[in-house]
Amino acid sequence: MTAKVVELLDKPKVVGKKQVSPRGYFLEIYHPLVANRAKPGQFVTLQATELSPRQPMQVVDTNPQKGTFSILAEAYNRATVELVELFGSGEELFNVEGPLGKPFPVEKYGTVLVVGHGWGAGANFPVAKALAEAGNEVYAALVGGTRENVYCEKEYKEFFGESRVFVYTEDDDYGREGGAPQAVENFLEEVGKPDLVVYAGNVGPGELVAEVTRAKDVKNLSLVASMMLCTSGLCLTCRVKKGDQMVQNCLEGPYLDGNAVDWKMVAFRNGYYWDLEKESLEYFLNKLLPRLKRKKQQS
Ligand code: FES
Repeated sequence: MTAKVVELLDKPKVVGKKQVSPRGYFLEIYHPLVANRAKPGQFVTLQATELSPRQPMQVVDTNPQKGTFSILAEAYNRATVELVELFGSGEELFNVEGPLGKPFPVEKYGTVLVVGHGWGAGANFPVAKALAEAGNEVYAALVGGTRENVYCEKEYKEFFGESRVFVYTEDDDYGREGGAPQAVENFLEEVGKPDLVVYAGNVGPGELVAEVTRAKDVKNLSLVASMMLCTSGLCLTCRVKKGDQMVQNCLEGPYLDGNAVDWKMVAFRNGYYWDLEKESLEYFLNKLLPRLKRKKQQS
């Protein structure tokens, strides 16, 4: 077997971990296949242990020389809490599948406003860089519910320059006051009509951004954070209504025409299992996590 094949058969491993907010962590993961093949806009499905849930995560950065890629993990459910609480540098993960989904259509659009709500700022970062490299005039709005979930501000400012990056918080604790739709409205008033808005983040703000772009006739490509299970086109969990079609988001997305998406249906379908997810997280936090931490300390 060649060294390359052996490398590809290696178990994925966490090789770097950096906490950037009370719940947010950058994880660098060794996985040469993803590191070499992932294109802006694609994601992976990560499973920390054999018994862990599978979790789709956007690829934030790749380093083909080191064979690594990075994700921004915000701990909000059982899978992400387990990942950030129990996995540190040097630890193997059970499985990483990817790269998955369609790469973002990187073309020359003109002026582009990239809006990242919370974790969406990390998801959008490779897309924003690729759009700038393709000759677009890229501006970014980074939006957090609070200051703590404004992510990647330093990275965006270093790449695009301070004057192209607008920071917003919904509680007005930092930067300008407002959410993702206000960021788009303010841009329209202060800079002008962009040729494209790219949104990534939770579904609620995505719907509000689409209301603004539809009303102002601005093209919108949005990461649709629908529920996903198999991430390979088999289970139909991720179906999203786009215009008069149902599309499988794990195959056709995650970036879809935001103006055509039925965001209310996405929110409704995502809500099906919230109670069970909450129950599973509580059980994990109260019963399993302390046991797993003790076991880890003893080994
Ligand atoms: S997640 Fe199963 S078909 Fe898309």
